[in-house]
Amino acid sequence: SPSDVAEPGEYDLVVVANRLPVDFTAAEDGSVSWKRSPGGLVTALAPVMEGADGAWVGWSGTADVEHDPFDASGIRCVPVTLTSEDVESYYEGFSNDTLWPLYHDVIETPSYHRQWWDAYRRVNHRFARAAAAAAAPGAMVWVHDYQLQLVPAMLRTLRPDLRIGFFDHIPFPSLEIFSQLPWRTQIIEGLLGADVIGFQRAGDAANFLRVARRLTGHNVRGRVVTVPAKAPRSSSGPLPGPAYRLAHVQAFPISIDSARFDALARTPEVQERAREIRSELGNPKVVMLGVDRLDYTKGIRHRIKAYGELIADGRLDVKDATLVQVASPSRENVDAYQQLREDVEGLVGRINGDYGEIGHSVINYMHHSYPAEEMAALYLAADVLLVTSLRDGMNLVAKEYVAARSDDRGVLVLSEFTGAADELGKGALLCNPHDIDGLKEILVRAAQMDPREMRRRMRRLRRVVMEKDVAAWASSFLDTLRAVPEPGSPAAAR
Ligand code: F6P
Repeated sequence: SPSDVAEPGEYDLVVVANRLPVDFTAAEDGSVSWKRSPGGLVTALAPVMEGADGAWVGWSGTADVEHDPFDASGIRCVPVTLTSEDVESYYEGFSNDTLWPLYHDVIETPSYHRQWWDAYRRVNHRFARAAAAAAAPGAMVWVHDYQLQLVPAMLRTLRPDLRIGFFDHIPFPSLEIFSQLPWRTQIIEGLLGADVIGFQRAGDAANFLRVARRLTGHNVRGRVVTVPAKAPRSSSGPLPGPAYRLAHVQAFPISIDSARFDALARTPEVQERAREIRSELGNPKVVMLGVDRLDYTKGIRHRIKAYGELIADGRLDVKDATLVQVASPSRENVDAYQQLREDVEGLVGRINGDYGEIGHSVINYMHHSYPAEEMAALYLAADVLLVTSLRDGMNLVAKEYVAARSDDRGVLVLSEFTGAADELGKGALLCNPHDIDGLKEILVRAAQMDPREMRRRMRRLRRVVMEKDVAAWASSFLDTLRAVPEPGSPAAAR
């Protein structure tokens, strides 16, 4: 129907993500402020959009907030409103209690509820309409992450003139696991509305292509899926147009603004703060650090268990070594996250109670998030960074640690189940976090590493992280999208 076709807006580049780069906070006196949103997606995309003349469509992080478009740190923000029902069913429910555990290899059991699916469709349609209203004729629209997988096809129906890209920030599961999803075919058809579908690792792209071939029956050749095209419509009915379009599937490993993080960590204030942190910790010989959203995919329990056993075995001494664990609050209304918090805090309390001494905690546990300056100082203060995820799309904390270490010191312990392991596997000490004995050996090796080996490894890591930054990631994705034949051209229907 004609109402399926939207009037164009004014932006040539539109990013669509569940969250805006800033979260809304209302103080008791009624005043309103915005602060940086959590997570890797915003860490990566904010610097890209600060330098672009585009718009960012997303949710404010609070239910029932209606807000006009506004500018935040140089980014045009277009808010999409979620009601508290939407937050419960679309965000906490379908996104974070169905898709999140399913896409992370069912570490926790996904819940399948038909009402959540209805909410997911409804909210995806709202995002698609907001994107359609913001995009100029022929614009590029870049849709992000698992919360919005139906948006590409919905947006294509509303605005057949657009080039549409999709990037998945989290892993894409194998066919066997994905097939559990009652709405599996609808999700794949939603994604196939995009011209370019990007993933973190080559393995994720391969999983998607296999799933697309098996569940849709479309032709899949190499990395290209041939998708039957819906005929474009005018008010008098369908228009003649190409019968097929192509969807290109590829890995684009994401990164950070490496130079900016490097520069931040070199400032005298951050360097001074790093010394202060070490002295506040009692100047131990070894500081180990973990930095994560408090999420069951991050392997925080495994890490704490291994560390606690090393102290209990006497292989690390509480007077010489300490573990700092920053766990930033996340998705606190979802049961699995509440359970995780109880487990982690119970474990930390027991280990500190059993082995801590006055002035020497085994584990310094913080359930907050910190600004970038404090994070940079923590990275500099840490001899070892522990990234022990059970499954992780990329893990940008690993890249931030490397970018902060222009002194070529520090050891990165990195789970082989992170996307980052593909690029950083040579300089890091790779671990399988499920293997607690193996993890303990690696922690001891990291704690005792000879400075020459440390320098050699860190230099190797820095060569990768400083070169492959987020600007390179974004241009590589957007160049691929730009190279797609214009919608409706004969080449588009090859
Ligand atoms: O990259 C994974 C991701 O889920 C992002 O989409 C998200 O913004 C971030 O982690 C933090 O999660 P949330 O937005 O649910 O707080």
